Amino acid sequence: MFKLIHSGISYLVVLLVLFTLVNALVKLKSRSSYKINDYYIALTATFFVKIQLILGVFSYYFSTYYQTLREVGFKVVMKDSTLRLYIMEHPLMMLIAITLIIIGFYKHKKQQDCSVKFKTLAWYFGIAFVLILSRIPWDQWFKA
Ligand code: HEM
Repeated sequence: MFKLIHSGISYLVVLLVLFTLVNALVKLKSRSSYKINDYYIALTATFFVKIQLILGVFSYYFSTYYQTLREVGFKVVMKDSTLRLYIMEHPLMMLIAITLIIIGFYKHKKQQDCSVKFKTLAWYFGIAFVLILSRIPWDQWFKA
């Protein structure tokens, strides 16, 4: 069940992070002032990313991959690229990306200058977006 929701919400998370990033870049380029809409866009993305974190942790705990880890141990897992992706690379990379998004959101909130706010969002969400794309299990996602 957690796997299914985790998989479904991923579409929304990827789109919201991308939307926040593009919005920040466009507003930065056009030198627009920071409005309440910009805040809500970043807030929504951050909210769903946090939900995804919780779902990810449950998916991990109840997955067959975690069971395999407990049975065969870390050394064996590291030698298999599929197991390594699900047990190590995907969770770790997503945790880094989620941390960046949360830090970026709270940092931009505290700043006063509009262009500094957009720059902060663009950097943090931009790096997080690349990290997310780099370690999504694409094959399994589109098969599901
Ligand atoms: C931005 C955050 C994240 C995104 C976009 C994301 C996306 C995905 C996607 C697309 C899949 C493939 C689902 C499918 O089979 O259709 C997946 C699987 C998985 N994710 Fe994440 N994930 C995120 C965060 C996390 C975190 C933080 C963890 C663990 C701490 C995690 C653990 C897992 C596990 C264990 C699976 C495999 C589930 C299974 O096949 O049983 N994910 N994730």
